[in-house]
Amino acid sequence: MMASELFDAVDVIRTKRDGWVLSDAQINWVIDAYTRGVVADEQMSALAMAIFLRGMNRQEISTWANAMINSGERMDFSALPRTTADKHSTGGVGDKITLPLAPLVAAFDVAVPQLSGRGLGHTGGTLDKMEAIPGWRADLSNEEIMEILAGPGAVICAAGKGLAPADKKLYALRDVTATVDTIPLIATSIMSKKIAEGTKALVLDVKVGSGAFMKTRAEAAELARTMVDLGVDAGVNISALLTNMDTPLGLTAGNGLEVEESVEVLAGGGPQDVVDLTVALAEEMLRLAGKPDQDVRAALRDGRAMDRWRQMVSAQGGDPDAPLPVAKHSEVITAPESGYLTRLDAWGVGVCAWRLGAGRAAQGEKVQAAAGVRMHAKPGDKVVAGQPLLTLYTDTPERFERSIEALDGSFEIGPSQPESVPVVLDKISN
Ligand code: URA
Repeated sequence: MMASELFDAVDVIRTKRDGWVLSDAQINWVIDAYTRGVVADEQMSALAMAIFLRGMNRQEISTWANAMINSGERMDFSALPRTTADKHSTGGVGDKITLPLAPLVAAFDVAVPQLSGRGLGHTGGTLDKMEAIPGWRADLSNEEIMEILAGPGAVICAAGKGLAPADKKLYALRDVTATVDTIPLIATSIMSKKIAEGTKALVLDVKVGSGAFMKTRAEAAELARTMVDLGVDAGVNISALLTNMDTPLGLTAGNGLEVEESVEVLAGGGPQDVVDLTVALAEEMLRLAGKPDQDVRAALRDGRAMDRWRQMVSAQGGDPDAPLPVAKHSEVITAPESGYLTRLDAWGVGVCAWRLGAGRAAQGEKVQAAAGVRMHAKPGDKVVAGQPLLTLYTDTPERFERSIEALDGSFEIGPSQPESVPVVLDKISN
């Protein structure tokens, strides 16, 4: 430790390891010193594990989030001619909602700065999906972001390196030290980025189920409440929807396939669950942005949302009319018996799409634009023995074997129709 440092990392780790509360000064120092490279990765890993095992109280969580925000720059949208609203999903399978949602909300004159990430593991990333559109570019300067928000009104782009850099370092570390799935660290990671991004209104889509980080309603509600409290403290108009992730959203999982399905929604069609969730989130974003009671479905039917989509894709170099990439190879999985599809597991389908090439196993790997899974039935649908249940797509057919293995035990067919589960399970407001 250099003589001028306020604390010793070992003392901070020991405090949490032994179950004590970290002081504001300790937290502010450890995040700043880690960002500067004074606290080493192995020390931060030990601290993350101590937090995983011992937890943090509300004050510690709040100070931790603020310290991460203060590790980098903050964006400022106050010069825009319209107010801003954003959505963040905790991640799921087939979760393409940002694509129809951003232009839909922009159609009501609310700017949507959707600073997004790439997928890692079985959940897809919004940027990977958008990059299936020929010519589309994820990296924009702050000036370009402001120009698009003032024009078409919705932008989906990569978060700049300057936003919450402490989180970028810490997330990479958590990923390789089994310290991702703990509420204090997830909540502060997500909210530090969203608060630094500077949106006025924010709706959280907290996923619950087999394909989500949070497997139970109780855990998801606690995560949602923790994030809503952080947002309120920062002056953000915020609420959270708890939504179902036991089964994939819509009928596609994979980058280009999900763009195709999103365009169907923008054209007034698309699968019911995708439409319902898009509408629920749009209504909530507009309410928090001071525009309640809008007829959101009308903007999907009459082409206003589609117009915004075309403008926002073109503004980032994409051709909204270009055909999407088509996979070189496909395999069909058929129903082994007749009856009702009673279960189609989000985790299994997500891993299958990922192994087909839709996702990456390590940071920086290239994904296949056309790889993924098309579902021909959803839980509750009647199926007949031999009919196609799933079509798998990839450019690299040697991937089929392991991808099909991921589907083992992922679907069930039974004699009676299961009760339908709504996509929106609950709402948590401030
Ligand atoms: N997404 C994030 O940005 N951070 C987490 O910790 C988990 C999901």
